[in-house]
Amino acid sequence: MANQILSRPANQILTPTFLNSTCSFLKNSQFLKHNKFHLPSATPIRKSIRDVQIRASQSPALARNYCADSVVVAEDKSYGNKQIISVTSQLYDYMLSNVREPEILKKLREETSWMRGSQMQVSPDQAQLLAMLVQILGAKRCIEVGVYTGYSSLAIALVLPESGCLVACERDANCLEIAIKYYKQAGVAHKVDVRHALAADTLKSLIENGEACSYDFAFVDAEKKMYHEYFELLLQLVRVGGVIVVDNVLWHGKVADPLVNDPRTVCIRDFNKRIMEDDRVSVSMVPIGDGMTICRKL
Ligand SMILES: C[S@@+](CC[C@H](N)C(=O)[O-])C[C@H]1O[C@@H](n2cnc3c(N)ncnc32)[C@H](O)[C@@H]1O
Repeated sequence: MANQILSRPANQILTPTFLNSTCSFLKNSQFLKHNKFHLPSATPIRKSIRDVQIRASQSPALARNYCADSVVVAEDKSYGNKQIISVTSQLYDYMLSNVREPEILKKLREETSWMRGSQMQVSPDQAQLLAMLVQILGAKRCIEVGVYTGYSSLAIALVLPESGCLVACERDANCLEIAIKYYKQAGVAHKVDVRHALAADTLKSLIENGEACSYDFAFVDAEKKMYHEYFELLLQLVRVGGVIVVDNVLWHGKVADPLVNDPRTVCIRDFNKRIMEDDRVSVSMVPIGDGMTICRKL
């Protein structure tokens, strides 16, 4: 967030989303404390952002000081001042330089980068984690809900055994065309069962086909308002000990901000709460990419 504020030209129009997240960030920010900066509630947030930007541009040392400040501490002191990493752009670049991204995935990512919605792809570090989970599980039968141009599905297919199968659910034919091209180029097309339909319909048809409890791994990355339904269907399809990974559970941090209540944020917040209380699975929410929750069926 600090980097986003500092790198934004002072005369750029500020979007409501940016203002919202900046508002909560500034209120808690070490930046304000470092700079002996005050944010009275009456101060218009736009002016405060500009002031912070101007102040930082006049004092690179202060800006550097803040950017290096890459840990956060929970405000709840019962966590014992535990420090955790706050991923700055610099740190994220470092993390990406430590990802082993197969050449074919890099090619697909680069081809997709100019396309509308390219930000929807999972990041290389997320894809690497998904692939590793599939390998740890020794998964043979997988499902992906939301393929887009195929980045995460290709990462999964690449590590599946030759006899493995990934059911890839996607409603957009144009995206699928690119995905299929890459499955073929990578020599994994025989492992991917592409289903061009609404994902919930595909999942229901798998259940009707007698495939309940026969899948090892599922990845959910499609319509947010459907997350509950996808989860319930996948829970039927996955075996005991199988894993369901759900993407975007941190939703750009908006889930933690009570001031943000747009329909998608509310859906994901509600989903997170239900999963947390669901004793049919064990869970781990991981702050990677936009946040992923790993659920293991008990
Ligand atoms: C976030 S993107 C998936 C990104 C993909 N996992 C990747 O890493 O490249 C979400 C995709 O889900 C698809 N989608 C959304 N709603 C869907 C639905 N009801 N059924 C099937 N696909 C859907 C969209 O067309 C979009 O391509």
